[in-house]
Amino acid sequence: MARILDTLFSLEGKTALVTGAGGAIGRVLAKALAESGAKVAIHDFDDERLASSKAFIEEAGVEVLTFKADLTDAKACRSLVDEAHAALGSLDILLNSAGTNRRKPIVEVTPEDFDAIIDVNLRSIYFLSQAAHPHMAAQGGGKIVNISSLSAKHAFNTISVYAASKAGVSQLTKAMAREWVGDNIQVNAIEPGFVKTEFTRPLWDDEYRADWFARFIPTGRLANPDELIGATLLLASPASSYITGQAIVVDGGVLSGATWVKP
Ligand SMILES: NC(=O)c1ccc[n+]([C@@H]2O[C@H](COP(=O)([O-])OP(=O)(O)OC[C@H]3O[C@@H](n4cnc5c(N)ncnc54)[C@H](O)[C@@H]3O)[C@@H](O)[C@H]2O)c1
Repeated sequence: MARILDTLFSLEGKTALVTGAGGAIGRVLAKALAESGAKVAIHDFDDERLASSKAFIEEAGVEVLTFKADLTDAKACRSLVDEAHAALGSLDILLNSAGTNRRKPIVEVTPEDFDAIIDVNLRSIYFLSQAAHPHMAAQGGGKIVNISSLSAKHAFNTISVYAASKAGVSQLTKAMAREWVGDNIQVNAIEPGFVKTEFTRPLWDDEYRADWFARFIPTGRLANPDELIGATLLLASPASSYITGQAIVVDGGVLSGATWVKP
């Protein structure tokens, strides 16, 4: 008996480029795409991270292509997409996971800090997606999945530029979805809450914040990177053929409201 899950979420015959896959989230999501049948190319600008992620993903018995590029350079964004497209033979899925942050109070942020965050988190997604569009349109469609953040909707102190960049990503997701709906390209975002990775170590390693997380997050804990796989496979697969311009919040219930009685 054919099972609906085997076709609806299957990426058999599909190709994917995952940016920032040297990171904890990108590599887990790249592996999930590969395990769902996609031929995957991973990207990072850090050689060691790239090699480590390649080995991690290939544990699944698949082969992975690697690409190095500094995404602060718009030309490098275009070359990355074109080279990945040429090597993969097509480009069905672009998963934008590269990101950066510098945590500082607003009064201490320099123009250089501002550009460093915006260039990776927002500007690169703009030009990577712009470069992916003609390939996807020519082949009859595609999927762009942007890793945004809970901070696109919920502000926290010391991450003002990061929050603005992620709000930009979530809005850009809608703008691209509108312009490219006629090309059968679905553009969506995931807004993760707090995920336990090196990126957030300064937060969960801190005694005050660890206690704060336990009270603030309804689940009482940070997410594991693999808890983003479900939303990713939905947005990267035929299951989301009628979903575009959306952001799925994966935050353990933070945005559901607040607890105001003693639990
Ligand atoms: N960890 C969390 O709690 C969390 C929550 C919400 C959203 N996010 C987002 O998820 C994504 C992945 O986060 P992560 O926790 O895996 O972080 P990470 O730092 O482990 O991974 C990000 C990767 O992006 C790469 N990168 C950074 N600047 C680059 C540049 N200029 N050119 C090319 N590559 C560059 C880094 O080398 C790194 O491997 C990011 O976009 C982040 O903002 C993370």
